[in-house]
Amino acid sequence: MTPKSTVHMVVCFLQLCIVKGQIICERQIIAEWRVEPKHVLIEWTLRKNICTDFYSECWNVNQNATREDKNLSVPQICPVQLQLGDTLFISSEPSFQSYGMNLVNASKEEFINCPKTDFLQDQQIFVCQIRGLHQVDATWLGVGTHYFAELHKRGPYLCNMGLRLNVTVKQQFCQETPNAPLCSKHGRCLSHVWEKQYSCHCFSQYSGKFCQKFNVCSTKPCHNNASCTEKSDGIRNSYECACPPEFSGKNCTEIVGQCQPHTCFNGNCSNVTPNTFLCKCDKGFTGKTKHFFFFFPLGL
Ligand SMILES: *[C@@H]1O[C@H](CO)[C@@H](O)[C@H](O)[C@H]1NC(C)=O
Ligand SMILES: *[C@@H]1O[C@H](CO)[C@@H](O)[C@H](O)[C@H]1NC(C)=O
Ligand SMILES: *[C@@H]1O[C@H](CO)[C@@H](O)[C@H](O)[C@H]1NC(C)=O
Ligand SMILES: *[C@@H]1O[C@H](CO)[C@@H](O)[C@H](O)[C@H]1NC(C)=O
Ligand SMILES: *[C@@H]1O[C@H](CO)[C@@H](O)[C@H](O)[C@H]1NC(C)=O
Ligand SMILES: *[C@@H]1O[C@H](CO)[C@@H](O)[C@H](O)[C@H]1NC(C)=O
Ligand SMILES: *[C@@H]1O[C@H](CO)[C@@H](O)[C@H](O)[C@H]1NC(C)=O
Repeated sequence: MTPKSTVHMVVCFLQLCIVKGQIICERQIIAEWRVEPKHVLIEWTLRKNICTDFYSECWNVNQNATREDKNLSVPQICPVQLQLGDTLFISSEPSFQSYGMNLVNASKEEFINCPKTDFLQDQQIFVCQIRGLHQVDATWLGVGTHYFAELHKRGPYLCNMGLRLNVTVKQQFCQETPNAPLCSKHGRCLSHVWEKQYSCHCFSQYSGKFCQKFNVCSTKPCHNNASCTEKSDGIRNSYECACPPEFSGKNCTEIVGQCQPHTCFNGNCSNVTPNTFLCKCDKGFTGKTKHFFFFFPLGL
């Protein structure tokens, strides 16, 4: 059989085999960083996982394609997103055994238009034509988006039909130092599908790039409607309360004034400073001021 007839046969065979109807790629819109790297296997075949519509099929996101995005809607293998350090395997369709193709590291334009036959040797992904299972060398999987396309000396037939792959490799910026826990254990290391990296998303009481900062104000230490300000001097649990005029003290719990008889209705009064006092409530009674403000103008 001549090489030309082999190509013809493979193309015809695949055209018969291609599943009709759209393929929706499985996606996590937001992914969490895995501590362990993963082996990812991509089946280099036209029989499944070929999507065409950029948003609704390839990315499974509900967004109308704008005019600029229209040229991104090309048949392709479901795009993948990897973590830096993951390994990628390409497993080729058995019927490609004698077809004699390679993969090429293409530019975005070449990915969209499919590469011509006269492709640079040094952009070929594998040293030989692909047969069965091949591991993609890490040199092709640096941080960023990579476009791998089918390369065949007779032309980009199968690339045009969908044998092209968008691989995005992301790294994480979730550790303050290499051995520190992700997001200081106070958040999650996440990446949205359109983000270029993983970053920390902190639990409610924490902030900072690595969730290393505890927001002490979130514990509401300032009482009596005082406003709380985190102090930026780097000291943990440092805050300042801006008390309303009638309150004082670190947490605005002390009342401005001095103890007088019956100041505290159902409790004992104690002076804290020459200017402030506190009421200690009897069992069963609560309240900030023990009616102090209601009675002070009348009784004292
Ligand atoms: C998106 O498409 C839907 C239906 O296809 C349409 O109702 C909607 O108005 C479109 N939105 C935009 C922003 O074009
Ligand atoms: C892959 O192709 C892109 C676009 O042509 C190029 O910028 C990049 O350097 C290539 N990668 C490698 C490892 O050669
Ligand atoms: C997509 O189409 C727009 C407008 O037609 C063009 O400016 C842009 O260069 C195209 N992008 C690619 C990657 O071909
Ligand atoms: C490739 O995938 C990335 C997301 O990882 C996306 O932003 C980009 O538009 C895709 N490129 C093409 C040409 O589909
Ligand atoms: C202020 O409140 C904190 C708890 O929020 C407490 O630990 C501290 O002792 C209080 N300080 C004063 C002076 O009441
Ligand atoms: C607390 O302060 C807010 C605004 O500063 C004010 O609207 C509200 O009435 C105050 N509440 C009390 C109980 O004083
Ligand atoms: C108030 O003081 C009295 C007398 O010293 C004491 O018996 C009582 O337990 C105190 N009450 C509170 C709530 O501390």
